[in-house]
Amino acid sequence: MTINTPRPDRYSPLPAQPDRSLARRVLVIGGAGYIGGAVGPYLLDRGFGVRDLDLLVYGHDTGILPKLQNPGYSYVFGDMGDPATLDKALDGVTDVVILAGLVGDPITRSYPDAARAINDDALRRCLDALNGRGLDRVIFVSTCSNYGMIGEDETADETFDLNPLSLYAEAKVRCEEYLLSLRGVVDYKPVVLRFATAFGLAPRMRFDLTVNEFTRDLFLDKALEVYDAHTWRPYCHVRDFARLIETVLLAPAERVAFDVFNAGSNANNYTKQGLVDLIQDFLPGRTIAYRENSSDPRNYRVNFGKLNTVLGFECRTSVRDGVEEILWALQNRLLDGVEERRTFHGNYELARVSARAAEEGDPCPTIA
Ligand SMILES: NC(=O)c1ccc[n+]([C@@H]2O[C@H](COP(=O)([O-])OP(=O)(O)OC[C@H]3O[C@@H](n4cnc5c(N)ncnc54)[C@H](O)[C@@H]3O)[C@@H](O)[C@H]2O)c1
Repeated sequence: MTINTPRPDRYSPLPAQPDRSLARRVLVIGGAGYIGGAVGPYLLDRGFGVRDLDLLVYGHDTGILPKLQNPGYSYVFGDMGDPATLDKALDGVTDVVILAGLVGDPITRSYPDAARAINDDALRRCLDALNGRGLDRVIFVSTCSNYGMIGEDETADETFDLNPLSLYAEAKVRCEEYLLSLRGVVDYKPVVLRFATAFGLAPRMRFDLTVNEFTRDLFLDKALEVYDAHTWRPYCHVRDFARLIETVLLAPAERVAFDVFNAGSNANNYTKQGLVDLIQDFLPGRTIAYRENSSDPRNYRVNFGKLNTVLGFECRTSVRDGVEEILWALQNRLLDGVEERRTFHGNYELARVSARAAEEGDPCPTIA
């Protein structure tokens, strides 16, 4: 079935930004996801043109809708590994941010074939297809999970040995290595950002991430089970990720190209116990069951000093601020429908892994 879109300009050529000195138009691949919901609006506010390309693998359609009101925004539905879709999405674009993937250890464990197809094969095809288009930055968003498990008294900087412990992190490491091997081969300037675990409010709010999940569960007075409370993890607010992406887009190319940056802040390294204690400052007296030996052995504290020394970048939002923000949203009834939209609010179950399947099943008519 073919339907006409009422506002074709919203879906086709990416509009130039009038009266703005920044003539940068950024394709955010995976922009409908949790972090993309913070990155797109931030860049639009800062005068960038933004287009999202997304396959909506969790059926999380409404993550896109708030952005459609902005004249600097456009959206393409589809798979980053499909050359025709990517070609269409890249029209008029100056820079690319890659957020897309099957994100997290649990979802890649549940769907190993889809994980390989997306996080290795489709991503590799995408990185190759970005060459020869005169792009400037290609920011690949990787993860601090790549450090896996490190000694109690160590913190991992960017030179630390990688020790990926899941299909998810293994694919990230392979992709980082591939991208960094392309010096002299590609005309774009790749930058790898190893993100800390995200927290904070965004349209596709994910409650399968520790800060968000613990805050909501304790707010609702659910009996929270905390596994391996002594283990460390770094955290970062989604708005700080958006600010960092802008910083990397605007930095002199020679300062960032073919380089790797941990993305987060030293102050936001927490043990799970530390997180629980912090949330309990707001919500005392909740029930918590402590368990040991979960199936997730990750334990890593990360050093984020390079962001500051090379880019002068500092995160602004503490975990405490993030917890308060989520509690405010919960108290004001903004997140009441989480249980009914479980797939929207967490990476638990796939709705689709290819655009073709959607067309054949016809739940998603083609836009002429
Ligand atoms: N959320 C975190 O805590 C965290 C931590 C470290 C790194 N990261 C990285 O940040 C990025 C974004 O994470 P997120 O939390 O927003 O995840 P998310 O799952 O909410 O978003 C990923 C997006 O990619 C899209 N996608 C998947 N396969 C696609 C394909 N083949 N073509 C086009 N789009 C596709 C999905 O539909 C989804 O919208 C990921 O690369 C992730 O590895 C996230």
